This record gives sequence, structure tokens and C-alpha cells, in this order.
Amino acid sequence: MVQSTFHVAIIMDGNGRWAAERGLPRTRGHEAGADAVERTVQAAPTHGITDLTLFAFSSDNWQRPKHEVEALMRLFHSYLLRQSGRCRENGIALRVIGRRDRLSPALVEAIEVAERRTAGGSRMTLRIAVDYSARWSLAHAAGSSDLRAAIARANHDATPMPDVDLLIRTGREQRLSDFLLWESSYAELHFTATMWPDFTADELARAVAVFRSRSRRFGHVDAVEAAHGS
Ligand code: IPE
Ligand code: IPE
Ligand code: MG
Repeated sequence: MVQSTFHVAIIMDGNGRWAAERGLPRTRGHEAGADAVERTVQAAPTHGITDLTLFAFSSDNWQRPKHEVEALMRLFHSYLLRQSGRCRENGIALRVIGRRDRLSPALVEAIEVAERRTAGGSRMTLRIAVDYSARWSLAHAAGSSDLRAAIARANHDATPMPDVDLLIRTGREQRLSDFLLWESSYAELHFTATMWPDFTADELARAVAVFRSRSRRFGHVDAVEAAHGS
């Protein structure tokens, strides 16, 4: 099947447990997780991925201890400052989706700068979901005649994102945790026990290979089966 977009979404889970297993504070796990983000982002376009959406901070994550939330926001801020140049060089358009009204003005400014700097990227769109809640975005878009566009607007996304083709969750849990509910209606699901900081380009390649071997029917029957039906 010829496909113009290939959207992979990742629930990057397991940073805290990765750190705990090593006797380190949770924030060290988040730092190691940031390195895994860099690896994954740079490897993604080489696998034909046109859209990569990473769940970095959910709206429910505000419930975590203040120092952990602050560490996550600092890491995200420095990621934007450090990586937007590299994204620009590599043709990656960086977008941040989710609410912005609860982020610090300095962070919102850094988001806007990074988005402007990388807007011309045509090789891949990288979406980082921060203060993101699928339920919130659906609730805000409800009632609109073009729900997909309204969801994009609610999330500050420049254009509606394509449906998710492959949804990966690291960290052993098998749940969606309020991520991309609408967009993942027909996503292939890939759950792995690997903790996010240990995720590698090789594992991404394997997940993509398994994805490519699957038969996606979208409620129809395969052409071969249809030919044999009566
Ligand atoms: C994912 O790792 C990162 C965020 C949710 C911000 P966790 O911090 O949830 O790690 P675990 O699940 O506690 O191991
Ligand atoms: C989901 O992970 C959110 C992110 C990866 C950013 P959580 O660790 O917050 O999810 P639960 O609490 O296990 O459902
Ligand atoms: Mg978790």
C-alpha cells in the first residue's frame, strides 16, 4: 500500500523505574530519557517516518511532586534550546502540542522560537506533547463541524496531524494514559518492557519492521480474502 505519511507515536514511559533500578533519583531517569529522545528523533526519518509524536508530559503529570515537575520543565526547555538547531539542519519541523496556558511565559517563548526556526522542515514533523490530554482536546473541539481541525487548534498544532499508524509504549505498561485517543483509532499497538532511557534506534527499527508485516484492514476484508469470498 502506498502511503504518503507514516505516523509513529510514542508513550515514553519508564524513566522513573529505570532510575530506581539503578538507585538514582527519578530526575536522573528523565535526563537519560532526554538522550533517548535525541537518538529516536534522529533515527526516525531514516525509517520512513514522516510524523513522530512523543508524549513528554501529560496533563495528569502536574500531580507529581513539584521538584519533579520543575525538573521535567527545565529538561524540556533545554531540549528546545539545544535541539531546534539540529532539527533545522536535518529538515525536522518541531511542533509542541497541548495546552500552553499553564506553562511559564519563558517556556512558551522558547516553544514559539523553536517552532519558527524549524517551520521550513519537510523531512519529518516532530510533535512533542506537553501538558497534553486527549480528553481535554476532544472536549474543546467538540461541537465543531471539523473536529480534526478543531483538535489541532486546541493543541496549538499548525495543521491537523495524520492518524497514528504505529503507537509504541515503553516501560511495560499497556495503556493509553489519555494520549491521542481520536488519532489512534486504527493504530497498530506495540508494547515493550524496555524502559524509555534504554530505547535504541535498533528497537525502533524492529518495531517498524513488525508494523510493516501487519495486515491493516480498517474494517474491510483483504483484497485476497474478498476474491475468495462468495
Ligand atoms: C515517563 O516516565 C516520563 C513522564 C511521564 C514524564 P515516568 O516518569 O512515568 O517513569 P515511571 O513510569 O515512573 O517508571
Ligand atoms: C504517560 O505516562 C505520560 C507520559 C509518558 C508523558 P505516565 O507514567 O504518566 O502514565 P501512567 O500514570 O502510568 O498511566
Ligand atoms: Mg510512568
